Amino acid sequence: MVVASEQELTLRLTDEHKLLRDAVRDFAQNEIVPIAAEFDESGEFPLDTIRKMGAMGLMGIEVPEEYGGAGMDALAYVLTMIEVARADASHSTIVSVNNSLYCHALMKFGTEEQKQRFLKPVASGEKIGAYSLTEPMSGSDAGTMASRAVLNTARTHYVINGRKSWVTSGPVADLILLFTMTEPEKKHKGITAFVIEADRTGFIRGKKEPKMGIRASATSELVFDNYECPVENVLGEVGAGFKIAMTVLDAGRIGIASQALGLAEAAYEASLNYAREREAFGEPIGQFQMIQAKIADMKTRIEASRLLIYNAVLAKERGKISGERYTLEASMAKLFASETAMFVTHQAVQIHGGMGYSKELPVERYFRDAKITEIYEGTSEIQRIVIARSELGLR
Ligand code: CAA
Repeated sequence: MVVASEQELTLRLTDEHKLLRDAVRDFAQNEIVPIAAEFDESGEFPLDTIRKMGAMGLMGIEVPEEYGGAGMDALAYVLTMIEVARADASHSTIVSVNNSLYCHALMKFGTEEQKQRFLKPVASGEKIGAYSLTEPMSGSDAGTMASRAVLNTARTHYVINGRKSWVTSGPVADLILLFTMTEPEKKHKGITAFVIEADRTGFIRGKKEPKMGIRASATSELVFDNYECPVENVLGEVGAGFKIAMTVLDAGRIGIASQALGLAEAAYEASLNYAREREAFGEPIGQFQMIQAKIADMKTRIEASRLLIYNAVLAKERGKISGERYTLEASMAKLFASETAMFVTHQAVQIHGGMGYSKELPVERYFRDAKITEIYEGTSEIQRIVIARSELGLR
């Protein structure tokens, strides 16, 4: 439990956290690890294991039980993400978007009716949620978008047209949190958030992206062709969409940092074992100082990532009490942990030599999977902008 008093907030792994972590670790190692390579190869969406994780409460970890979730805290979410990512990054991507982008937004900005209709089935794992901000010509510059939502004259529906891209779980999601322009002349203040029901006409799942890594986490374009969205599906205020998108990404970035840490841990553990077992020049390669230096740097960056993630968890929990943002802490954790994942998986391939390049071991998959953590939910360049602007007091 994250413990709050008036003066301080401290982070402590309770028995409940340890039980959760161990249960997720057992599940991930026994049920996900054996299928990860096969799903990476085929690019098939791992629906069975995702459903099982839903039954374990892992698709809505911080959502209160009354809305279908597990009713746990930010630390529980991070511990889950680390364990799932240690087994397979594709699975952790699906868990992350469902929890910290979709459910988090509905929890924070949804009305009671929206929570009952659109949060409960996703937090319980019965349905899959997605988050759709990016467009073909609007990635890092999220405030500019070409898609449009126009209110009909009866003021009952918005008619949505446009094309969104890079939507995680796009090919399978039942409910999608969509950001689109309702008043283009107001720029970012003209963006509104909508809950999209995938079973309505005018919703078309576009091209599935062939990807370098996280290949079992399906990613696609979404096309809106005169899609009629009831006004009841507007999330938050009309025109507040950009702020909602950014607020939710703060939570999402802690999830991606945790994913990066889990990936780095998996690559590190594989390297440690290999350094003990593999012999060259008559001794285990772990005896060589050049391997030792790599091990030392990998371990140090992993533990530094963990501390930045815990720092962000504390800021997030503090924010639940004070209402303050934790943008800076989330960006620092995401930046450092994702660059650590790239560094550690790169070193892991090098330590494994030819075997690191072979598909017979998971190390090459870790390396391919790690790259996306430096790109999605805000590139490393965007995180540096967010951190520097915050420190300099700039916008
Ligand atoms: N929380 C709340 N409000 C925020 C905020 C935050 N974290 N960040 C900015 N805002 C508010 C500002 O206070 C400002 O409010 P006012 O208009 O009231 O003054 C408003 O938003 C605009 O802020 P900026 O002027 O700073 O906006 P900007 O256009 O300069 O953009 C940015 C800032 C940081 C570059 C932002 O555009 C950004 O984060 N870009 C990256 C987008 C991104 O991460 N995309 C990934 C999409 S999800 C994905 O990867 C796919 C998936 O499925 C996983």
